[in-house]
Amino acid sequence: MKAYGWNVAEFGGPETMQWCEMPLPVPGRGQLRVRVHASGINFAETRMRAGTYSGQELPFVMGMESAGVVEAVGEGVKDFAVGDRVFGRARGSHATHVLFDALHTLPLPDSLDFVQGAAIPVGWLTAWHALVTVGRARTGERVLIEAIASSVGSAALQIAKWQGCWVAGTASRDDKCARSRASGADAAYNYKTAQLAEEIMRDTAGHGIDVGLMTIGEETAASLFDSMAYEGRIVMYGSTGGRQVCFNLNIGTRNLQLLAMSISTSARFVPETMRSFREVAVPGFANGTFKAVIDKTLPMSALVEAHAMVDSRTHYGKIVLVNDF
Ligand SMILES: NC(=O)c1ccc[n+]([C@@H]2O[C@H](COP(=O)([O-])OP(=O)(O)OC[C@H]3O[C@@H](n4cnc5c(N)ncnc54)[C@H](OP(=O)(O)O)[C@@H]3O)[C@@H](O)[C@H]2O)c1
Repeated sequence: MKAYGWNVAEFGGPETMQWCEMPLPVPGRGQLRVRVHASGINFAETRMRAGTYSGQELPFVMGMESAGVVEAVGEGVKDFAVGDRVFGRARGSHATHVLFDALHTLPLPDSLDFVQGAAIPVGWLTAWHALVTVGRARTGERVLIEAIASSVGSAALQIAKWQGCWVAGTASRDDKCARSRASGADAAYNYKTAQLAEEIMRDTAGHGIDVGLMTIGEETAASLFDSMAYEGRIVMYGSTGGRQVCFNLNIGTRNLQLLAMSISTSARFVPETMRSFREVAVPGFANGTFKAVIDKTLPMSALVEAHAMVDSRTHYGKIVLVNDF
C-alpha cells in the first residue's frame, strides 16, 4: 500500500508544499495508523510552512488534525481497534495516512461525518482548554473572544454560551461581527473602528470583562486590557499578529491574572482537557449541543487555495480538506 502527503522540504510560500509519495507510517507503541478521510486547516500551519513556527523541523508533512478510520494499532493500544472511526490532533494530517497518539484520539460519534470530525480537534480543544481548564469561566461572567470568526473563536463562542456567560467578540470586518451575533454572541465589535473599551464598559454596565481570550497581539492588547474587570483573567492563547506585545499593565491598579497557554506543552491538557472533552464535549457534538462551524470544504488537492483563504482572513470557522486521492 502506498501513502502520500503534502510534504515541505524547504520553508517558504505555498509553492513549497508538494504532494509526494511517502513511506506508509507504522504505528509504534501507543499509536494508531489512520486512513485520513478529512483534515482541518489551521492558522499555525501557514507559520509552519513559512518557517516562523517555533520548533518546526524540516522535512515535515503538513496538517495538524484529521478524522478517518483506524487501519492498524501499535502495541499497548487498548481503547481503539482496526475499523474504528476516530478524530483528533495529529501532525502530518494533510495526507492519505497519519499516525495518531492514542492519548489524543477521540471516537467519532455515529451522527458526525468525517468533515465534521476534522473541523473539531484543534479549534475546539484550544477553546475548551482556554475556557474550561485555564480560564474557568463561570455562569454569568462576561467573556470577550478576540478574532471570534476564527476556528478557535467560533468554537469558544459556543462553549462560553454553554457555560452560561455573556459573550462578546471582536473581528476586523462588520460581516464577521454580524455573523457572530446571529450565532449567539451578545455583542460583537469591529476592532478596526470601535472604541472597544468604552463600548464594552457601556455594554457591561461598567463591570468589564471577566475572561478575555487574547490572540491578536500588539494591535488590540491595550484595548483588551482596558476592557477588563478589576478581577479579570486574560487567557493568552494565540500570537496571530506577532509574539512581541507591549502594553501598560497599570500594575497596582487592578488584580488581573495573565494566563498564557499552549495545548501542546500543557501538563494539564491530557488529564484535564482531553478527559473533560471526551466525557462532556464529544457527547455534546453527538446530541447537537455543539456543532463545529465549517466555512468551506475543499478537496485535499486544494491545500494551496486553503492557505490563501487563511491569508485573506475572510473565512468564518473552519476550512476542511476532503481526501480525494
Ligand atoms: N495556544 C495554543 O495551544 C493554540 C492552539 C491552537 C491555535 N492557537 C492559535 O490560535 C490562533 C487562531 O488560530 P485559528 O486556526 O483559529 O485561526 P484562523 O481560523 O485562521 O483565524 C485567525 C484570525 O485571526 C485574526 N487576525 C488578527 N490579526 C491577524 C494577523 N495579523 N494575521 C492573521 N490573522 C489575524 C483574523 O481575523 P480578523 O481579521 O477578524 O481579526 C484571522 O481570520 C492562532 O494564533 C493559532 O496559532 C493556539
